[in-house]
Amino acid sequence: MVIAVDGPAGAGKSTVCRRLAQALGVAYLDTGAMYRAVAWALAQCAMDQASDQRMRQELPLLPLEFLIEAGRLRIDWEGSPLGDELRNPSISRMASLVSQRRPVRDFLTQKQRALSRGHDVVAEGRDMTTVVFPDAELKVFLTASDRVRAERRWKEYKEKGLSADLEDILRQIQERDAADSQRVLAPLKPGKDAIILDTSELSIDQVVEQLVRWAMEAREKA
Ligand code: DC
Repeated sequence: MVIAVDGPAGAGKSTVCRRLAQALGVAYLDTGAMYRAVAWALAQCAMDQASDQRMRQELPLLPLEFLIEAGRLRIDWEGSPLGDELRNPSISRMASLVSQRRPVRDFLTQKQRALSRGHDVVAEGRDMTTVVFPDAELKVFLTASDRVRAERRWKEYKEKGLSADLEDILRQIQERDAADSQRVLAPLKPGKDAIILDTSELSIDQVVEQLVRWAMEAREKA
């Protein structure tokens, strides 16, 4: 079973999908982390500007591995897990850029489908409901207003003790949304028949409860 969830940055996808996967006892597939890992790996090899042909040849040869372990995605580089290095703002920007490259999308789409063959998954990203899993048992597009999303990010930074300016975050979110939804390849948009859920006025608990209900219904139908 695949539950596919898309939506813009800051819509609460990661937290909600992690909890949804836990509640259902299935694996959580954070595909944004896969794009971040490829961005990081390409930067390590000075290949982020490489031609499509070179990327297509070299990507499968990199010492980068995606596995599901204890219900979570693990990403290894040369046999050791990648973690916090994927979360910094420069990697966010690079991930947004490399995610516009056809060889990168093809490479990761194939990896994401392969991971779902061995496991039931909640797969979260930008093109889960449109490109990677258009036939998923449940498809949801999570969204929220720009300002609410910026405030959520701002609170996350504060909790981590990082200083951040709300207006800067809002601008970054709007820029990244524009890049993700205007790109030619797999632009951010809801898939056919995806349920659109605006979380601006909802708590995380309320969103998770709603998704668990929909997932149970989809499971019964499947
Ligand atoms: O969700 P995130 O912020 O970790 O995603 C990082 C970048 O990867 C973001 O710019 C959008 C891109 N991405 C994508 O193009 N397709 C996905 N399925 C997931 C993420």
